[in-house]
Amino acid sequence: MEIKKVGVVGCGQMGSGIAEVCARAGYEVVVSEVNEELLKKGLGRIQTSLAKAVERGKISAADRDAAWEKIRGTAHLEDFSACDLIIEAVVENLEEKKKVFSALDKICPAHTILASNTSSLSVTEMAAATSRPDRVLGLHFFNPVPVMPLLEMVRTILTSNEAYQTARNFGETLGKKVILAPDTPGFIVNYLLVPFLLDAIRALEHGLATKEEIDQGIVLGLNHPMGPFTLADFIGLDTVLYIADAMYQEVKDPRFAAPVLLRRMVAAGKLGRKTGEGFYKY
Ligand code: 3HC
Repeated sequence: MEIKKVGVVGCGQMGSGIAEVCARAGYEVVVSEVNEELLKKGLGRIQTSLAKAVERGKISAADRDAAWEKIRGTAHLEDFSACDLIIEAVVENLEEKKKVFSALDKICPAHTILASNTSSLSVTEMAAATSRPDRVLGLHFFNPVPVMPLLEMVRTILTSNEAYQTARNFGETLGKKVILAPDTPGFIVNYLLVPFLLDAIRALEHGLATKEEIDQGIVLGLNHPMGPFTLADFIGLDTVLYIADAMYQEVKDPRFAAPVLLRRMVAAGKLGRKTGEGFYKY
């Protein structure tokens, strides 16, 4: 099956990046937000990123214009009715995601593949909210989407071979390296990343070292681009907490139990870069 038109539900940090890479790969893209104001903000984010890609010499001005022309914004899910593949990137909340999947299932033709960009929730549960569980899978992108080369693909026990192969080919046309993960908490990357981030916070709580020393240790000793506190601030501390809680709830593995410090920082509104303060000030 050939993918021509792609839908992206949600134009936040992840949705806008996903819409951008799809348009840059030549797909027609429809991207939605819940209202016009958020849509305008999301489309503005895409324009800024496209401009940055030109500035950095990654694409030409003509490529930027061609990509921008392929993107259409909407505040109505009905506008996804002609999409061959839809990637959901709404808030990380299973009930909200199930509502989106159920609505898309009614709007879209039988051939449409429905994918979720979830980082921690069960794709099988989203599939079960539709009448086409064989055509539902996970496509988990990494932030910043236009820069990070990985696409983690989640295949459930219900995903058909055809849907899997079509989505995998699609991911490769975006220029991403595709890895296959099962539908288990955190898939591959977050199964390892989340305990690492939580352990760093626990180490800080227990007075092992300062956050600066821990970050430097990981950056200079392991060649990571960011230390765990810088990375947690970059992802958003609320997102880290949400993912950890979702993973813990499913398997009760203490590796995923959020430290009190993280919970308190989120309660205090110190969410990282997006609020101007997390472990560091921005
Ligand atoms: N489009 C295309 N390329 C772009 C771009 C854009 N809009 N903006 C920047 N780039 C390119 C730059 O040209 C540069 O490329 P080069 O290395 O070939 O010169 C590269 O991207 C890096 O850009 P910058 O120089 O602006 O930035 P830094 O060198 O400071 O790197 C960073 C920034 C990429 C964010 C780096 O610090 C990094 O990789 N951090 C770790 C990010 C990470 O781990 N992300 C995953 C988070 S976890 C997640 O998303 C999963 C979720 O479920 C939690």
